[in-house]
Amino acid sequence: MREFELKNRRYIGSKAKLLDFIKSQILDIKFDSFADIFAGTGVVSEFIIKDTDAKTIIINDFLYSNQTIYNAFFNQSNFNKDKLAKISNYFNSIKNLEENYFSLNFGNKFFSQNDAKKIGFIRENLDNLELNDKERSIILASLIYSCDRVANTVGHFEAYRKKVQFNDCFKFELIKPISTKKNIIIYQKDSNELAKEIKADLIFIDPPYNSRQYSRFYHIYENLAQWKKPELFGIALKPKEQNMSEYCRSNAPKILDDLIQNLNTKFIALTYNNTYNSKSSSSKNKISYDQIVEILSKKGDLSIKEQTHIFFNAGKTDFGNHKEFLFLVKVKN
Ligand SMILES: C[S@@+](CC[C@H](N)C(=O)[O-])C[C@H]1O[C@@H](n2cnc3c(N)ncnc32)[C@H](O)[C@@H]1O
Repeated sequence: MREFELKNRRYIGSKAKLLDFIKSQILDIKFDSFADIFAGTGVVSEFIIKDTDAKTIIINDFLYSNQTIYNAFFNQSNFNKDKLAKISNYFNSIKNLEENYFSLNFGNKFFSQNDAKKIGFIRENLDNLELNDKERSIILASLIYSCDRVANTVGHFEAYRKKVQFNDCFKFELIKPISTKKNIIIYQKDSNELAKEIKADLIFIDPPYNSRQYSRFYHIYENLAQWKKPELFGIALKPKEQNMSEYCRSNAPKILDDLIQNLNTKFIALTYNNTYNSKSSSSKNKISYDQIVEILSKKGDLSIKEQTHIFFNAGKTDFGNHKEFLFLVKVKN
């Protein structure tokens, strides 16, 4: 039976395709502890766990859905695989379901009507099952990954594709948790708050750089993770705003400066791409290359590496000359 791996997820800004580049630039650094404080999919943390000698890995993101996914994949508590397989078989056998919150809102939009009924039924029933925290996270993360497989989107939930012929194709499939002896610590905090609390030898910084908010991109997963059945608004059926990032606003340079000044670390690795001159206003960077250089230089010795990278493109953004930068800082004592 196929199981989802951590990277099998569509996520704007995922560094899955840049891991070799990141790896080649940080392998000379000796670090026992690592913190991924804008962890997104978690693929950078996974690579640190599997491919480096780091003993402690801190993983953070302020989204509820990402928290669920980290608990499912990275938390090392026990879980009963057979029990989860039986639940999965049951979810795939159910038919003739009634309408529910999820299908009434998202049916024939982001999912076919029947698929949406199934997703809503599974989410509603999840809390009635006898599961420990790890098992519950695995089922919920599996639901999110299974939704991603069939969602009628271009990879996020700001909009759905109109005029499509819907097929019922939802299949519930389990995620494959990552087993490790390393010390994994998971947080769901605002990064600027977390920065004041943690200490790590190497801290990886990968914030959003434009006005597009992740809590809006992935509002359906945030809705599923919290399941408070909020009132929804607009064509994309989004709830009221929650977890809006200051990194997506004009104050971003000041917020980044505050973050960097508060980091308790020996090395900082920060990724950045040069979409600053993008034609689409929502894709324009809130922090310029020069501002990053200025902010990081105050903290220690800065070196800059670059690599050409293909970007997410919704049409208006010019592909030419796009580069991904990795800023490395050896922090001054
Ligand atoms: C560019 S993505 C990170 C991608 C990640 N490195 C990967 O490879 O998947 C930025 C992440 O930062 C999170 N984020 C934005 N503002 C935040 C904040 N103030 N505190 C914590 N997380 C934040 C978003 O939810 C998003 O997942």
